[in-house]
Amino acid sequence: MKPVSLIQFLIEERRAGRINAELSLLIEVVARACKRISVATGKGALGGVLGNAGSDNVQGEAQKKLDVISNEILLEANAWGGQLAACASEEMEDPQPIPDMYPKGNHLLLFDPLDGSSNIDINVSVGTIFSILRCPDGISEPAAEHFQQPGTEQLAAGYVVYGPATLMVLTFGHGTHEFTLDREVGSFTLSRRDIRIPEETAEFAVNMSNQRHWEAPMQRYVGELLAGKEGPRAKDFNMRWVASMVADVHRIVTRGGVFFYPLDARNKAKGGKLRLMYEANPMAFIVEQAGGAATTGRERIMELQPTGLHQRVPVFLGSKKEIELATHYHREADGAQG
Ligand code: AHG
Repeated sequence: MKPVSLIQFLIEERRAGRINAELSLLIEVVARACKRISVATGKGALGGVLGNAGSDNVQGEAQKKLDVISNEILLEANAWGGQLAACASEEMEDPQPIPDMYPKGNHLLLFDPLDGSSNIDINVSVGTIFSILRCPDGISEPAAEHFQQPGTEQLAAGYVVYGPATLMVLTFGHGTHEFTLDREVGSFTLSRRDIRIPEETAEFAVNMSNQRHWEAPMQRYVGELLAGKEGPRAKDFNMRWVASMVADVHRIVTRGGVFFYPLDARNKAKGGKLRLMYEANPMAFIVEQAGGAATTGRERIMELQPTGLHQRVPVFLGSKKEIELATHYHREADGAQG
């Protein structure tokens, strides 16, 4: 079969009436920016891009040079395209308006420019995560509150993994699709259409070193997985943890599994570790569109009404039956507490 490029795929989606021309162009611009990030990450030590930038981001975390470079690449690429009203990034406190000298569009772009950046220096996969929303009517200078829309309002979401291969996984709400970057040709090419995450799995991802800080229902759920064939689940489970959400989610999108970053005694005051707008919502959209589920352990992630641009939430996502069980344990424990 003839390979289908991302651009051809976008044309098909437009013809089918699933996206408009502006959204299609916006995806092309994001994809182009991600190709540049792929080149920068691929150079490793030879590009002089490893190590810390010597600054902290809005979350108070030390920024890697590549965090800063990737953020700038995405901002610059998207400034003049004419499809956006503003951008928001995990790396910046406030939304960035489109400069007055450039045409404006009616979309909002949110991104985590380089997720899992602590893995850069050890040459393990990192990624970009993005989410696209509609700018509310009549708003010419969008502020944080205009970005704070529930995940169900997302028009598109995607991630790009910079790994052995660079690839993009994308949804517009009509299935989840994967495009692999053909490095010689320089274009993303459709490699899997309508990805399905199996409902059942025997593989889980969680940072086990936090176990003692988790809530009781999380202890119970993972305890049962660890008990294997001899335990109540009567089944052995395998564990994987890359500590790059994009890589862990991509494994789930490829062969099933579940990912957890639960509430624990140390992150409780902040609401969790991962960010709703830049990580949880886009990943939830992608996973749900592939037949999986995504909750906070209590509620569906995409139905949360955001209260802040940099809000953090617990994240449970992946194969449906396991996410339903882990969520059930949390709700049951809440019910028992009254
Ligand atoms: P960062 O971008 O600061 O490296 O954070 C990575 C995120 C996410 O990608 C990953 O799943 C998780 O944090 C890993 O957390 P732990 O280091 O606590 O395992």
